[in-house]
Amino acid sequence: MTAKFSLFRPLTESLLKTNSEAEEVEIANSLAQMYQELLRDFVLDGSYSNTNPTHVDGGIALSSQHALDCLRDPLRTVRFIKGLNAAIQDAFIRFPDEQLQIVYAGCGPGAPIVFPLLCLFTPEQLSITLLDINASSINSVEELIIALGAGDYFRPGYLGDAIIYQHPPELPLHIVVSETMDKGLTKEPQVRITQNLASQLNDKGIFIPESINVYTEHSFYSKEPYFDIYKNVLDLGPVTNTRDRRSLFSITRDIQISPSFEYLSEPIAVPADFTETPDICIYADVIIYGDLKLTKAQSLISNSYCVKSLYNIGATQYRLHHTTSDIPNWEVIELQDDLLAP
Ligand SMILES: C[S@@+](CC[C@H](N)C(=O)[O-])C[C@H]1O[C@@H](n2cnc3c(N)ncnc32)[C@H](O)[C@@H]1O
Repeated sequence: MTAKFSLFRPLTESLLKTNSEAEEVEIANSLAQMYQELLRDFVLDGSYSNTNPTHVDGGIALSSQHALDCLRDPLRTVRFIKGLNAAIQDAFIRFPDEQLQIVYAGCGPGAPIVFPLLCLFTPEQLSITLLDINASSINSVEELIIALGAGDYFRPGYLGDAIIYQHPPELPLHIVVSETMDKGLTKEPQVRITQNLASQLNDKGIFIPESINVYTEHSFYSKEPYFDIYKNVLDLGPVTNTRDRRSLFSITRDIQISPSFEYLSEPIAVPADFTETPDICIYADVIIYGDLKLTKAQSLISNSYCVKSLYNIGATQYRLHHTTSDIPNWEVIELQDDLLAP
C-alpha cells in the first residue's frame, strides 16, 4: 500500500523549523487546510463532522467537529506537535532499542498531534494507541489511517473513556499525550485523564503536557485579550493590568491517581478598591514540553476564565474551590468575617 502519510513531510519539516509566532500561525493554517481536504477525500461517511458531545464523570468530551475545530487554535496545535516530537527524541535516549509505546488520549477525528510526525519515524520505533470516547472520532481516524497507509504504526483504536482506560501491562508505556482541557481547567476532563494515565507511565516516561500551572488574579475580564478560532491570535490587543496574582496548583505526571482531584485555596482578601480589577479570574499556563508552552490568551486552553465579580461578594475574604466531579468547575466560597476572628 502507498504510504500517503508521507504527504505530511514538507509541512512537518517546515513546522518543526518555525521560530516565530507568525510562522507557527501560517503553518497551522496550512495543516488545518490539509486536514480538511484529507478528511473530505478519505472519510466518505463524514463522521468527522458529527456535532454530538459526550458527558462523562470528569467532564465533557468534545464532538468530532469541535475537536477538529481545535486545529484552528494555531499556537496550541503547532506547539503540541513540536512537543511530542521533542519528547520522542528524548524517549529514544531514555529507552534505547525499545519500541516506544505512545498513548494519545482524545485523538479526535484526525489525531493531528501525531499524524504529521509519522513520516519522521518507522513503525519499528513507534507503537501508538489512539483513544477517544466519541465513536465518530474513532471511526474517522481509523478510516484516515487506512487511507493513508499508516496502519503499521497503530494498535487498534480504543473507543472508550480515557479516565478508566488500562494500557496492557505487558507494553510499558513511554509517552502519553492528551489535550483534553478548556480554559481554567473547566468543562473538559484533562485532570481526571492525567490522574488515570500518568500513573501507568514507565518511571522515566513522559506526560504531555508536562505541567499545567493554575493561578488566579483580580482582573477586568471583559477588557482582557481573549483568543477564539475566528480571531488572529497575534492581534488580540494589549495585555490588561491585573493584580494579586497567586499560584494555586500544578497538574503534572506526579498527580495522585485517587481520589478525584479537588482543590481549596487559602483565604484570599477582597481588595479595598477593585474598580479597575473587579473580576476573580483563573488562568492556566500550559507547559507542553521543555520550553514549549502556552500562556495567557495564546490559545483556547490558556484563555482566562472568570469565576465571579467581586461586586457580588459580601465578605472581605474568600476561598476558591475547584472540583473535577461531574463537570470540572470553580466556585467562590465566601468567608464569614466573624469566623475569621482569632
Ligand atoms: C480538545 S479535543 C482535541 C482533539 C485533537 N487531539 C487535537 O489536539 O486537535 C479533545 C478530544 O478528547 C476527547 N475526549 C475528551 N474526554 C475524553 C475521555 N474521557 N475519554 C476519551 N476521549 C476523550 C474528545 O472526544 C475530543 O476528541
